[in-house]
Amino acid sequence: MDLPQKPMLIVPPAPARWPAMADLYQHQRPPWTADLERRITQGVPGAHDVYAVLALAGRFVAGACINKFGDFGVLGHCYTRPECRRQGAARRLIEGLLSWFDMTGGKWLYLAATADLAEGLFGKFGFSTLHRVPWASAVRVTMLRARGGDGENSLAEDQGEVTVRPLSRAAWPTMVALLQYCPGPDPRVSIAESAVIAELFALDLIDHQEHSEWQLLGAFRGARLVGLATVALDHAGTRTQAMLIPHAGTPAELRNAVTELARGKGYEHVDFPMETVLQHESETPPTELPPVQ
Ligand SMILES: CC(C)(COP(=O)(O)OP(=O)(O)OC[C@H]1O[C@@H](n2cnc3c(N)ncnc32)[C@H](O)[C@@H]1OP(=O)(O)O)[C@@H](O)C(=O)NCCC(=O)NCCS
Repeated sequence: MDLPQKPMLIVPPAPARWPAMADLYQHQRPPWTADLERRITQGVPGAHDVYAVLALAGRFVAGACINKFGDFGVLGHCYTRPECRRQGAARRLIEGLLSWFDMTGGKWLYLAATADLAEGLFGKFGFSTLHRVPWASAVRVTMLRARGGDGENSLAEDQGEVTVRPLSRAAWPTMVALLQYCPGPDPRVSIAESAVIAELFALDLIDHQEHSEWQLLGAFRGARLVGLATVALDHAGTRTQAMLIPHAGTPAELRNAVTELARGKGYEHVDFPMETVLQHESETPPTELPPVQ
């Protein structure tokens, strides 16, 4: 079976493409398919997405995409139907997507994969490993391709003023990026462990916001997301809860915005349960092990 040489690039919204796309990605789990369907059929305001596919005899046989926000992107949904594997499909799709990303001003491109694919596939396109964690069935990694050799930390750049604004689905790539450089929701879990599930975690945060369970706020320094907060809006009574990432050194402007937002929603107190956990951890003396006999 000869695969086409050039991928087709689909820029959402492209609702007519959804049935073929849904067929290609039928193995995916609901949070991913829901996000895909939303982006393809309706488009996400503020997001700059592109889907690359190879079509054969009227069906899509391989696909991959980049979700881009500002100069940040996440490469994902890399999939080739089993009968078409090892014929260069993924390579062609990735090459097409990287050209698009570079031409449209993209600078920081992240992805999550298994260690096998990191080495056999993505490493050949200039991605280098950020985090590596043995997972249930395989070693999971996250990778970054930084254009122009800008180093490994996208947050180290740009020291503008902090501004706080609501975060929407469009900002998902910057949320994934932030979670590569600071621990996720539970600071007792290592950065590496939260980094390899950052894509799913950030998607989950957005889904909860869209179900009105909480609101997301982002602290930006220039164009960089340097902090994020969730404020629960489904708590009855006068108290609610919030989470700040990073847990230490959070921009004061973000904390203040959380308090203001909660007040505006009728809450008198905001609890930060993770701060209490951290405080407790630092106050608890290490457990003494019994002497070795
Ligand atoms: C991973 C996947 C997309 C590769 O697609 P493909 O069309 O077979 O890949 P290609 O033929 O373009 O291979 C490109 C390169 O990747 C390497 N490669 C492909 N599959 C690999 C694998 N499973 N492990 C290690 N290297 C692999 C090839 O050897 C090739 O290297 P080369 O360019 O030096 O010859 C495909 O196997 C797949 O859909 N797997 C299931 C879904 C998945 O794991 N997606 C990745 C999510 S991060």
